[in-house]
Amino acid sequence: MSKITVDIQKAAQALSENGLVGIPTETVYGLAANGLVQSAVQKIFKAKERPSFDPLILHSTKSKIFQWAKEVPAKAKLLADEFWPGPLTLVLPKSDVVPFETTSGLDTVGLRVPNHPLTLELLDLLEFPLAAPSANPFGYISPTSAQHVVQQLGDRVDYVLDGGLCKVGIESTIVGFENGRAVIYRLGGLTQEMIEDVIGTVMVQTNLSSNPKASGMLSVHYAPKKPLFLVTDYSDVQDDSATAYMLFGERLNVSRERQFFLSEEGNFYEAASKLYALMRKLDDSKYNRIVVKKLPEESLGSAINDRLVRASVK
Ligand code: TXA
Ligand code: MG
Repeated sequence: MSKITVDIQKAAQALSENGLVGIPTETVYGLAANGLVQSAVQKIFKAKERPSFDPLILHSTKSKIFQWAKEVPAKAKLLADEFWPGPLTLVLPKSDVVPFETTSGLDTVGLRVPNHPLTLELLDLLEFPLAAPSANPFGYISPTSAQHVVQQLGDRVDYVLDGGLCKVGIESTIVGFENGRAVIYRLGGLTQEMIEDVIGTVMVQTNLSSNPKASGMLSVHYAPKKPLFLVTDYSDVQDDSATAYMLFGERLNVSRERQFFLSEEGNFYEAASKLYALMRKLDDSKYNRIVVKKLPEESLGSAINDRLVRASVK
């Protein structure tokens, strides 16, 4: 029996019974459960084989989400008003009803209102928030279609809600607040420039670390099984017939069939939306190695480069 459905009533029922449901968002698909129930949250960690030190994000609607924060700084309110629903996660002091299973023992919680019509309808039906990490086995490439979720976690979920392809294609930008100052912990679908337009200068703190605040900070993450080489110049790597290229705004002087486009025109938003699906496709292809050149550090290029660095051979 296929677990893929568009029936939000069935999804809501399963979630109310502490089940697991794959949900579409504009960034990537999430693996969702009731974020206020310890046993439901534990199922997420088990299904993903995710280490327990890595906290989850709570998802709900704009009218409900802030009840799971103890306090909301003025800058957080400004960002929420401007960008929710959207690819922004705010890290705030957690309310007492949020279990430490969800936050991995932290006193803060990540909150997000995703921008996807089907999931917003689902969240409208639910009184509780959905804890949802990306719906991939820990460390592997995040899913951007319902089929990706079924391929890897199909036997571990009750349903996968099919909301089509994710429009943004990379995870949300995570923003926290330290002594009144905003800090970006993970670059993502909302650019630093857009955030700074609303609240002024922010710090970016997305260091590669083995003791991360965000798992997206781990130095190996989002990675295909085949070696991916991230270069600043194509002369840095050798070319052979087993090498596939992921390209942005250029063509190479190698056989056409080994050239795969993130965006032929050099459009950052198109590149983000295609990034993970292309990495999966090449991981399953006949090619042995993947080569990609760093994108310009502007617009979504910085977030895409961040993912490529973590996916790449060091
Ligand atoms: O776009 C997204 O954010 C997707 C969709 C499904 O919403 N979710 C997602 O979840 O990317 P996940 O679990 O793969 O990444 C969430 C990151 C984790 O690296 C986690 O460590 C970080 O958010 N995070 C969660 N709560 C945090 C907290 N209290 N402080 C710092 N980082 C936190
Ligand atoms: Mg993830």
